Amino acid sequence: MKIACVVGARPNFMKIAPILKAMKEYSNLEPLLVHTGQHYDYEMSQIFFDELDIPKPDVYLGVGSGSHANQTAKIMIAFEEVVAESKPDLILVVGDVNSTLACTLVGAKLCIPIAHVEAGIRSFDRTMPEEINRVLTDSVSDYLLTPNEGANENLKKEGIPDQKITLVGDVMIDTLLKYRDKASSHKILSDLGLEKHSYILMTLHRPFNVDIKANFVNILNALMEIQQRIKIVFPMHPRTNARIEEFGLNDMVSNMKNLVTLNPLGYLEFMGLMVNSKSVLTDSGGMQTETTVLNIPCLTMRENTERPETIKDGTNTLVGSNTQLIIEESVRILDGNGKTGVYPEIWDGHTSERIVKVIAHSR
Ligand code: UD1
Repeated sequence: MKIACVVGARPNFMKIAPILKAMKEYSNLEPLLVHTGQHYDYEMSQIFFDELDIPKPDVYLGVGSGSHANQTAKIMIAFEEVVAESKPDLILVVGDVNSTLACTLVGAKLCIPIAHVEAGIRSFDRTMPEEINRVLTDSVSDYLLTPNEGANENLKKEGIPDQKITLVGDVMIDTLLKYRDKASSHKILSDLGLEKHSYILMTLHRPFNVDIKANFVNILNALMEIQQRIKIVFPMHPRTNARIEEFGLNDMVSNMKNLVTLNPLGYLEFMGLMVNSKSVLTDSGGMQTETTVLNIPCLTMRENTERPETIKDGTNTLVGSNTQLIIEESVRILDGNGKTGVYPEIWDGHTSERIVKVIAHSR
């Protein structure tokens, strides 16, 4: 059974790594790893292959950056040729990036079964491209592999039949649990001269936070205040870096002596920083889940989340781009009153095995 496994952007790589490993246990499964090239810089892509032992892609489409339509269309055209040539029996997609949707659409039109890993999560905010990608991918997928009960409920409400849905858990947590200890002792802390729990780890890259200058400035104003009390370590996404230049925010950023900006980091360096942080400030999706598992307080600079379980039971709090709220909630954490939490039992590090079991028995 030939399975085209699709990756394209940074958050896909830590999800595919354990799935490819688990496939090795099944002699009837033949993975074909396809990298769309949505992300292409060494720090946004290859470093994850090196650190997480992901095999070299069998096919590299090299589509690169572009507008949504441009990028999605380029992936579709290139992937259609791959499918025509390699004739996979199933296409496996992960997450919610443009590569996920583009390859799903190609497969669905060619009547090839699609398995979607991380199906069913919803922010109910269709201004986010990821939400469009999730809803459309799920609507034409055949195997909806979900991370939690809430995702199952969302799919049922959208009319997806029960027999297509399997609760498997969160595959990113497989990678987190596997590499947690190795990451924790990574030399990144000593390289940066940081003590454990003496800094906030921050990421910021969502278009609504960095492409809209007023929101970006609101966030920077909050950082200005917070960094007077604690170091903020900030590996910067290329999109964010570009906006700082474009909006002339360089001085504002460089004037903050306790804001440590870095280039994007690989998985182990980044996780080393996360595991040892006092708290996390982010607009990422996956980090909300990872911090809940690590029991580290997380402030999410968004108005909504597709991971509500991390708010209800976990360590996550939504703060938007509201300067005052970001400061208040940060102070609460620094004063020792950050949230603690629990997470679903099924995030046990064995999600990839359950995913592959479903696939192996799909025909
Ligand atoms: C994409 C995903 C987002 C995910 C994020 C993680 C979509 C719709 N969005 O957003 O869900 O959280 O990846 O990083 O798929 N760039 C580089 N080098 C690279 C890749 C990108 O410099 O290797 C720059 C380019 O200027 C590009 C910009 O970053 O235009 C944005 O990249 P793109 O993949 O379009 O979206 P992300 O913001 O990375």
